[in-house]
Amino acid sequence: MNTSTGQIVSIIGSGLIGRSWAMVFLSGGFRVKIFDSQPGQAASAIQEIRKQLEELQKAGLLRGNLSAVDQLALLSCHDDLPQALEGAFFIQESVFEDLEVKQSIFQELEGHVGEGVVLSSSTSCLLPSNVFSGVRNKTRCIVSHPVNPPYYVRLVELVPHPETLPEVVDCTHALMAQVGQAPIRLMKEIDGFALNRVQYAIIAESWRLVKEGVISVQDIDLVMSEGLGMRYAFIGPMETMHLNAPEGLEDYLRRYSVGMRRVLSSFGPVPEFCGEEAEAINQEMCDLIPNDKHHLSTRRERRDHLLMGLAKLKKHPKQWQG
Ligand SMILES: NC(=O)c1ccc[n+]([C@@H]2O[C@H](COP(=O)([O-])OP(=O)(O)OC[C@H]3O[C@@H](n4cnc5c(N)ncnc54)[C@H](O)[C@@H]3O)[C@@H](O)[C@H]2O)c1
Ligand SMILES: *[C@@H]1O[C@H](CO)[C@@H](O)[C@H](O)[C@H]1NC(C)=O
Ligand SMILES: *[C@@H]1O[C@H](CO)[C@@H](O)[C@H](O)[C@H]1NC(C)=O
Repeated sequence: MNTSTGQIVSIIGSGLIGRSWAMVFLSGGFRVKIFDSQPGQAASAIQEIRKQLEELQKAGLLRGNLSAVDQLALLSCHDDLPQALEGAFFIQESVFEDLEVKQSIFQELEGHVGEGVVLSSSTSCLLPSNVFSGVRNKTRCIVSHPVNPPYYVRLVELVPHPETLPEVVDCTHALMAQVGQAPIRLMKEIDGFALNRVQYAIIAESWRLVKEGVISVQDIDLVMSEGLGMRYAFIGPMETMHLNAPEGLEDYLRRYSVGMRRVLSSFGPVPEFCGEEAEAINQEMCDLIPNDKHHLSTRRERRDHLLMGLAKLKKHPKQWQG
């Protein structure tokens, strides 16, 4: 049924992201061993994963070819680090986003595993050169940055350390594709990787438009959710240009590049994101969605439910896929 039976992936850190990674690798038929430094945390992660897999199965949204029971049989938790690493060919670190914590866990990991084992970090904001600075042999180190929640949002940014071997990037790419994620490669490290650089560009211009009184918080969010976001769920900015002029991208540039450059040169400076303007924008947001636990969790549930539906839509009509 699948080729991965018996191969082991170790997950270090079993918070929000570690648990999601575990579910992703289980769906591909891998044996998954979880370790967490906080006593009892890995065991409670298993309970949580069981609950989620059973719910997903009921909803017909379980990923992979195995039943929830079969996937759970591949999962184990360990309070002892060497035991959690034994036999693994791939290690996905998902501990706190703290440089010193990451540096020290990777130094420790290196001491317990053979040279051929891939050391992969989930870091969102730290550069591979910093995260892996204490590792002696950095050739098998890589950042595999997921997007929350990875079970529905499949992108994984692969970011190499300057010393990472191309084979390590290739094998991580193949592994991610095998378990149904959508891996992309950065050729070199850069602050923010690709996803956050694009995301921050959108946030910055949205912020400036609201701050300058051009548009409301509610309406700038509609620009994305009812406008750009509709097609960005299926095609990116490059294909958008290619399809938006009769003869493709070159034609698009002939028609629109002067206008694009004019508009882009009118962009303001990087916002401060603090002080009175932040208070005003926060207030406008809270008038729409109050920032108490109840309202925020209701909106998060709505978001995850819609993402699930979108993941289903992207998965099933095969003829729509690129
Ligand atoms: N939450 C997100 O949206 C998101 C998205 C992409 C990437 N990430 C990255 O994933 C990583 C984990 O984030 P999270 O949201 O799951 O955090 P979290 O706080 O939910 O979980 C972190 C877990 O790591 C454990 N831990 C801490 N130090 C440890 C150690 N030395 N050894 C073993 N376990 C240890 C903690 O006990 C905790 O269970 C971070 O690097 C974060 O930047 C998060
Ligand atoms: C599920 O099975 C199909 C066909 O056998 C295979 O192509 C696919 O890779 C499998 N998916 C997973 C996640 O193992
Ligand atoms: C580093 O690890 C690679 C395998 O990833 C191995 O081929 C190489 O010999 C190692 N180098 C050193 C200096 O140990």
